[in-house]
Amino acid sequence: MSKTAIYPGSFDPVTNGHIDIIQRGLSLFDKIIVAVLHNPGKKSLFSVEERLDMLTESLNQFSNIEVDSFAGLLVDYAADKKADAVLRGMRAVSDFEYEFQLALMNRRLNRNIQTVFLMTGLRWIFTSSSIIKEAASFNADISDMVPSYVYQKLKEKHGFSDNPK
Ligand code: PNS
Repeated sequence: MSKTAIYPGSFDPVTNGHIDIIQRGLSLFDKIIVAVLHNPGKKSLFSVEERLDMLTESLNQFSNIEVDSFAGLLVDYAADKKADAVLRGMRAVSDFEYEFQLALMNRRLNRNIQTVFLMTGLRWIFTSSSIIKEAASFNADISDMVPSYVYQKLKEKHGFSDNPK
């Protein structure tokens, strides 16, 4: 039976760490729906449309991927999509408490949807969209941490030309 996972997140913007999780997730699931949360309460650098565009461009080498956005409860969205699982990446220990809380709450809300964690690849363990955005705002060279399309978009957002410092 075909298995589908939702990989939810802010993706502001998508990083190579996210791509690594998606790539490895595809060895476990037949299809992954990468879902950007519409969260007007959270300040973001990129609009949801920009984030969807960056995800679509960065994931075009993979098949069996759908890029989408959602609002409201993740478990409701997952049930609508008939997904079997929620996929999350786990980085350093600092992620654990929040991820545990999220997974347990989701389980309480819908026991049919399992949360599957993949350990983030060692290369990406201390990277995050937030720290990458901060570095990019100072024109630091983050070209090996994000897909090339995202790198260009970060440059454009901050009005920098192509050459990093
Ligand atoms: O990339 P992030 O910001 O860590 O992703 C967090 C996300 C989107 C997975 C989480 O905030 C979420 O699922 N939000 C939707 C609302 C929801 O279902 N919350 C959990 C139960 S109250």
